[in-house]
Amino acid sequence: MKAVILAGGEGTRLRPLTLNRPKSMVPILNRPFLEHMIDYLKGYNIDDIILALCYLPGYIQNYFGDGSDFGVRLTYVMEDPPLGTAGAVKNIEQHLDETFFVFNGDIFTDLDLTRMMEFHQEMGAKVTIALTPVENPSIYGVVEADANSRVERFIEKPSPDAATTNMINAGTYIIAPEVLESIPAESFCTFEREVFPMLVETGEPVYSHPSDAYWIDIGSHEKYLKLHYDLLRGKTAKSFPSKGIRVDGDCDIHSQAELKGPLIIGTNCVIGPRVQVKGPSVIGPNCQIGADSLIDRAVVWKNTRLGQAVSARGCVIAENVFVGDRSQIMQGSVLGDNVVVGAGKRIERDTTLGADNPLFQLSNAL
Ligand code: GTP
Repeated sequence: MKAVILAGGEGTRLRPLTLNRPKSMVPILNRPFLEHMIDYLKGYNIDDIILALCYLPGYIQNYFGDGSDFGVRLTYVMEDPPLGTAGAVKNIEQHLDETFFVFNGDIFTDLDLTRMMEFHQEMGAKVTIALTPVENPSIYGVVEADANSRVERFIEKPSPDAATTNMINAGTYIIAPEVLESIPAESFCTFEREVFPMLVETGEPVYSHPSDAYWIDIGSHEKYLKLHYDLLRGKTAKSFPSKGIRVDGDCDIHSQAELKGPLIIGTNCVIGPRVQVKGPSVIGPNCQIGADSLIDRAVVWKNTRLGQAVSARGCVIAENVFVGDRSQIMQGSVLGDNVVVGAGKRIERDTTLGADNPLFQLSNAL
């Protein structure tokens, strides 16, 4: 069984975390997001995977190679310029001669793919679209279906009183190869706005597959953190022992440091005296956390150094960051790669600092 993963977008909403890597390669529990996705697909014996890439494709290729180290066969197909979700799949038509799965490369889900495929076959569908419920459908496009789950209508951002359903497109599709004939070649085209509505209008069998399985897209800072919290708190099928503490490889953790799970500490970290690390948190490999610092519900990437008495709460701190002594990183803040925060600074709630704030870095550098 073949699967296409769409991983060509620039991930602008996740910047600065995506300035130096594609969204699908941001670390989740210290492994690239895409590696989790590949594991998920392997669990369904889907091991022939085509990656549709555009933005920073070399980053993905260098990490995964031909896929053999990860137990799958990977084929890479590039676009330049981006062709949209449907255009990207049209662009790899030569690899697709039987019914295949398509996945957005930024969605973490426990959706049962076997059941979805059985449903697709039972219905004789040409397209099956996975649906997931959301609390506030008015910021999404919802999918209306009849009692047999046949799709009748797509409604973009319905006003609260016009919303007849809270089920949205979950970014996972099963598609018959003949559907590709209806997508223009070498043109920008999306499944959501063009191809699926057109198929419904022309009476083709497009079905929906609702599920309340765990589902999240990591498109925003908030949801990136939420996926960590959910995984660490055991809210997904891929459970991490709730309250558990995992220390990978060799770390130098001071006997007076206080660790409270759930948390993961990457290899080769140095954690000083009286440091408190409170879960759910993740610290990447090769980090140094100075004496008396506090890490509370934070995700810290590799090679980062926090000085003494730093406090980092509910935030994301990317690679090679330096935070000077006594600085405070408040809830919802995101520090991109290589950011330097001088001593005694307070980074206010929901602040984003990255390569596009060079002045900040200069004026605050030690
Ligand atoms: P934002 O810029 O933050 O909206 O993120 P994005 O560029 O990733 O767009 P979006 O979240 O809408 O994309 C959903 C999924 O489709 C992501 O996995 C993208 O990588 C992928 N994707 C979106 N557009 C394209 C495209 O033109 N080509 C390819 N190959 N993938 C795409």
